[in-house]
Amino acid sequence: MAAIDWRIERFDALISTQDTIKDMAGAGAAQGTVVQADSQSGGHGRHGRVWESPQGNLYLSMLLRPNCPSFVIGQLSLLTGVVLARVIKSFGVKGVMLKWPNDVLLSEQKCAGLLLESSLSAKGDVEWVAIGVGVNVGNAPIEGGGYLGDDVDLCAFEARFLTAFSDMYETWQDMGFAGVREEWLLCAHRQGQALSVKMPERLETGFFHDIDSTGNLRLRQDDGGLKTITSGDVYVTGD
Ligand code: BTN
Repeated sequence: MAAIDWRIERFDALISTQDTIKDMAGAGAAQGTVVQADSQSGGHGRHGRVWESPQGNLYLSMLLRPNCPSFVIGQLSLLTGVVLARVIKSFGVKGVMLKWPNDVLLSEQKCAGLLLESSLSAKGDVEWVAIGVGVNVGNAPIEGGGYLGDDVDLCAFEARFLTAFSDMYETWQDMGFAGVREEWLLCAHRQGQALSVKMPERLETGFFHDIDSTGNLRLRQDDGGLKTITSGDVYVTGD
């Protein structure tokens, strides 16, 4: 597969880059379309949570049309996290950690989030995937949030991110998830870290073991068994 041919549409302000890219996806926009805004008035994340979006940070959404079965789409969240961690480190920023499935932490404070949404055809084929990325580069809009700091230039960060994303996406399309998994594990929770996972119907607790070959979280439980978690909100509850 070739590198992604990014076509970036820039806006001073939008309600949400994610809403805009989804409209464009439905209207047939090509893979590689990117919507970037300097600020958002209705930025949102998973479960409809507000994503505060003042000027000074990165807000963009990318449109992809991957050639893959629908059950692997979630791997793109992990892939995006790995790319963000790589780019943050490339600016000399220390203390980056990935929290399953899609948070990027800096010294345990969330500094970036990503939102993956997709559309399937009636036959179940993947039509498009929209990945929205918010990175606190110049400021932390909410108390307790992390940000990268004044030494990181926003335009340079965006350029490095899109180049690195294209490289890793190409490898993922050609070779599968193994390389992403390996790099994700190097940036993630320490093995044995106590986690709890909130799901709509229950709370699961255990100790971080790894992610499996498709990207699911695996927790070691008190009885020694492994529990596979396919979705949920993770909270770090101990060392
Ligand atoms: C999360 O942590 O729940 C995900 C946050 C994703 C925020 C980004 S900012 C750019 C894009 N536009 C949105 O409205 N959301 C995503």
